[in-house]
Amino acid sequence: MLLKLLTAFYSGLLLTAQAETILGVTVFTRHGDRQSKHYSGYGLTALGTQQNFQVGGDYRSIYIASNSSKQILGVSENRVVNSQIFATAPDQSVLLNTATAFLQGLYPPLEGLDPEITSQTLNNGSSYGNPLNGYQYVVLHGKEEDAPDTIWLKGDEGCPVVTKSAKKFQESTEFQEKHKSTRAFYESFWEEIGSVYDYQPSNLTYANAYDIFDLLNVASIHNASSAGNVTEEELFQLRTLADSAEFGLNFNNTDPARSIGGQAFAGGILNQLNQTVSTKGKLKFSLMAGSYDTFLAFFGISNLTSTSPNFFGLPHYAATMSFELFTSENVTAFPSDNNDLRVRFLFRNGSDDGETLRAFPLFGGSEDSLPWTDFVSQMQNISITTSEQWCGICQSDMPFCEAYNSTGSSSPASSQGGSGGGMSNVVAGVIGAMVTLGVVAILVGLAFLFLRRRRTSHIAPATAQPINEKHSGRSDSDSA
Ligand SMILES: *[C@@H]1O[C@H](CO)[C@@H](O)[C@H](O)[C@H]1NC(C)=O
Ligand SMILES: *[C@@H]1O[C@H](CO)[C@@H](O)[C@H](O)[C@H]1NC(C)=O
Ligand SMILES: *[C@@H]1O[C@H](CO)[C@@H](O)[C@H](O)[C@H]1NC(C)=O
Ligand SMILES: *[C@@H]1O[C@H](CO)[C@@H](O)[C@H](O)[C@H]1NC(C)=O
Ligand SMILES: *[C@@H]1O[C@H](CO)[C@@H](O)[C@H](O)[C@H]1NC(C)=O
Ligand SMILES: *[C@@H]1O[C@H](CO)[C@@H](O)[C@H](O)[C@H]1NC(C)=O
Ligand SMILES: *[C@@H]1O[C@H](CO)[C@@H](O)[C@H](O)[C@H]1NC(C)=O
Ligand SMILES: *[C@@H]1O[C@H](CO)[C@@H](O)[C@H](O)[C@H]1NC(C)=O
Ligand SMILES: *[C@@H]1O[C@H](CO)[C@@H](O)[C@H](O)[C@H]1NC(C)=O
Ligand SMILES: *[C@@H]1O[C@H](CO)[C@@H](O)[C@H](O)[C@H]1NC(C)=O
Ligand SMILES: *[C@@H]1O[C@H](CO)[C@@H](O)[C@H](O)[C@H]1NC(C)=O
Ligand SMILES: *[C@@H]1O[C@H](CO)[C@@H](O)[C@H](O)[C@H]1NC(C)=O
Repeated sequence: MLLKLLTAFYSGLLLTAQAETILGVTVFTRHGDRQSKHYSGYGLTALGTQQNFQVGGDYRSIYIASNSSKQILGVSENRVVNSQIFATAPDQSVLLNTATAFLQGLYPPLEGLDPEITSQTLNNGSSYGNPLNGYQYVVLHGKEEDAPDTIWLKGDEGCPVVTKSAKKFQESTEFQEKHKSTRAFYESFWEEIGSVYDYQPSNLTYANAYDIFDLLNVASIHNASSAGNVTEEELFQLRTLADSAEFGLNFNNTDPARSIGGQAFAGGILNQLNQTVSTKGKLKFSLMAGSYDTFLAFFGISNLTSTSPNFFGLPHYAATMSFELFTSENVTAFPSDNNDLRVRFLFRNGSDDGETLRAFPLFGGSEDSLPWTDFVSQMQNISITTSEQWCGICQSDMPFCEAYNSTGSSSPASSQGGSGGGMSNVVAGVIGAMVTLGVVAILVGLAFLFLRRRRTSHIAPATAQPINEKHSGRSDSDSA
């Protein structure tokens, strides 16, 4: 035992003495402070953009700055090189602006960084820098809800199988008991919630746990006339209840369909990191923006919850997950052997100074990093890796899914042979369940979808909100 400890101690020393080299990073971020999402057309607040900007700046000082021990190998420090960066967000204002603010922190205006390279001189002697003190334009890819690539960010939307599984949560005894035991607690907030146009006393239940928390949390920050009406302690209880409701809606150990959003996200992460590997480090930094649903589903399927019970809780505004691709040696070129590559998972719970980016072991392991090859096989086990696979599992009628139907590959069983990294156990589980439920499942799924669509089209014109805000049957699965 003692020998083992000593060995671990010395190998630990060796590892820290040997400088590692970061080769690429993929980051997933939640939006900062925003208006309540109960009201469509909600947006990031000024505080929210500051939070995402702050986090982007902190990532700059970790991964981009030349005085950081974690600077990514070969990354451009001051002038953004767009081939090194990939940034994407769902085509929704809150999440697009989240990514923009983050990128503004990652690559601030050039004048403040390096005035010498800010301007370009023409043949006639005139010099020009970008507007806004040398603002840097990082390309940001917005993903519309009907683009196949949207599934990496929002794999829980447009997926009737997820909606159906989430319904099962409301039927569970766990839910029913909480519903009953918290009834009086929720009813006590009628005075604070009653002014919300579509709330009746009967709506004050655990079934609206997130929405009620969100309304009162946002009011506690922004609404002067309601300040102090909800105590810190009440807000804490409301959040804790929202934690359990949202975790239950996004993960269930025995019902893989619940976490399809997290599985597609895992496929997206794998794909981004693999691009860094397959291009030998040309792609250096990927940014994806998304919702807390995706965080929670991923925390569940990657077994982070066994590492710390904190992963059962909703992540803070502007929380981030970082996946580092690195090699244990101090190198000057991308390693030629993939066996020299490792991956480390890190999480930062918001934008506060006190919150640091911390490493956590994935998949219930004990080490804070694992070899790339192990990472790939473990991730494939929990991932949806192609849009075709997603369409089959979800029984989705998204327009891009039609392409797979014409080749006769839409049936779940035949999507098994689809392209990509083969089918995961999780996927097989979903398919097994679907085959059992058969035609009924498909019909029920279509009915949900039909209702969802009708509600969306009903809401959009009435409120004259931007129609690109995505709505789904689950009030909580809306963006972030
Ligand atoms: C890594 O190697 C370079 C030279 O190749 C050296 O300048 C640098 O100090 C080394 N870094 C560490 C942390 O040992
Ligand atoms: C790196 O340099 C910046 C200013 O250029 C400074 O604010 C920061 O503290 C430095 N970081 C380290 C780790 O030395
Ligand atoms: C130099 O060329 C640019 C582009 O043709 C023009 O806009 C600018 O006015 C010129 N500057 C001078 C001093 O002629
Ligand atoms: C999890 O799924 C199982 C099997 O579908 C179900 O019996 C159980 O009630 C579910 N639990 C929750 C909290 O949804
Ligand atoms: C909030 O509290 C203030 C006084 O503390 C009171 O005047 C006001 O009516 C309360 N508002 C609500 C919605 O309860
Ligand atoms: C409140 O309940 C009514 C009746 O069930 C329902 O139509 C309405 O959508 C609910 N409102 C909210 C905000 O959940
Ligand atoms: C602020 O709170 C008051 C009292 O609860 C409420 O009437 C009002 O609608 C709230 N304003 C906003 C913007 O939510
Ligand atoms: C990584 O990318 C390469 C090249 O595109 C591909 O051949 C390989 O299958 C990918 N691996 C994974 C795990 O996705
Ligand atoms: C993030 O912070 C929230 C609020 O304090 C907490 O409930 C949650 O457990 C935290 N998550 C992690 C992984 O630390
Ligand atoms: C999660 O990790 C714990 C602790 O290592 C382990 O006991 C458990 O079997 C793991 N669960 C899954 C689903 O992998
Ligand atoms: C895949 O994940 C399941 C748990 O979800 C686990 O039991 C199994 O061992 C994993 N398979 C591999 C190859 O890691
Ligand atoms: C694919 O075909 C099935 C069976 O004909 C149908 O139910 C489903 O709606 C189709 N999906 C798409 C996207 O066309």
